[in-house]
Amino acid sequence: MDLQFTRHRRLRQTANMRALVRENFLRLEDLIYPLFVVEGSNIKNEVTSMPGVFQLSLDNLHEEMNEAVSLGIKSVLLFGIPAEKDEFGKEAYHDHGIVQEAIRYIKKNFPDIIVIADTCLCEYTSHGHCGVIEGEKILNDPSLDLLAKTAVSQAKAGADIIAPSNMMDGFVAAIRHGLDEAGFENVPIMSYAVKYASSFYGPFRDAADSTPQFGDRKTYQMDPANRLEALREAESDTLEGADFLIVKPGMPYLDIVRDVKNNFNLPVVVYNVSGEYSMVKAAAQNGWIDEKNVVMEMLTGMKRAGADLIITYHAKDAARWLREQ
Ligand code: PBG
Repeated sequence: MDLQFTRHRRLRQTANMRALVRENFLRLEDLIYPLFVVEGSNIKNEVTSMPGVFQLSLDNLHEEMNEAVSLGIKSVLLFGIPAEKDEFGKEAYHDHGIVQEAIRYIKKNFPDIIVIADTCLCEYTSHGHCGVIEGEKILNDPSLDLLAKTAVSQAKAGADIIAPSNMMDGFVAAIRHGLDEAGFENVPIMSYAVKYASSFYGPFRDAADSTPQFGDRKTYQMDPANRLEALREAESDTLEGADFLIVKPGMPYLDIVRDVKNNFNLPVVVYNVSGEYSMVKAAAQNGWIDEKNVVMEMLTGMKRAGADLIITYHAKDAARWLREQ
């Protein structure tokens, strides 16, 4: 028989042979672990739709941080849930707001851990939108000043990186300007540059208590059907001075991750969002999938798509599994 074909299986014969030709790896340093801090004391509420994820009061942060750090996690992303909300989200830029206090606390007790502050208003506004409203309109320019103030108060508290997720136009420029004016020219901006109006954020909104009270976020977050728009968003944020570009959600948008990776020279961050986490957890709890293998495959797939870093609620588990390997 004179068949012409290629023997791909030569390189798959043994575990060591497969390791020899492996192209992509997940590293401990790639993982960014999101935390939800809530005002009050002695609070550790598990988010029903996100098993293993908790709203924590400051006094309970120590145990969680100790565990994460002992597993090798090196960066955390902080979200705050204030006691009071109002129309302008004042607690977001209060110097002693919940996130500012959590930042101080972590930097004092875990000085080497990189603290990334999510900069948005939706957890702090009574209406749950990411900017200032007039009637049912979400205003762009008046929101910028509040976002810059929020970023500056987070930097003052000691945040190592500012991560604005609000999707107003010009937010990177406004925040860069605000940080520079306040003397924080060395604090980088990790911009949620490409953020889709996704139904995968549902469980997060339970965790962060940030569901919009009217309408939706479609006038500021992106249409899931669009690809070129992602490149325009990434381009303007790059020009405005972003230091990292986030693409969000992860799994259904890995083509966009690759587009952003190929077209820009900044570190690309994928946000493996709440709904993605909930689906995996639910299936795993039912015994329908192998949680460890599915999570590691998903995270490695994100790296292969072009992610340099991954924000994920699976971070502690992934860190544990990476160490076992
Ligand atoms: C706030 C914000 C959201 C997420 C991160 N920052 C929710 C939203 O835009 O409604 C989602 C994260 C997740 O689903 O895990 N603007």
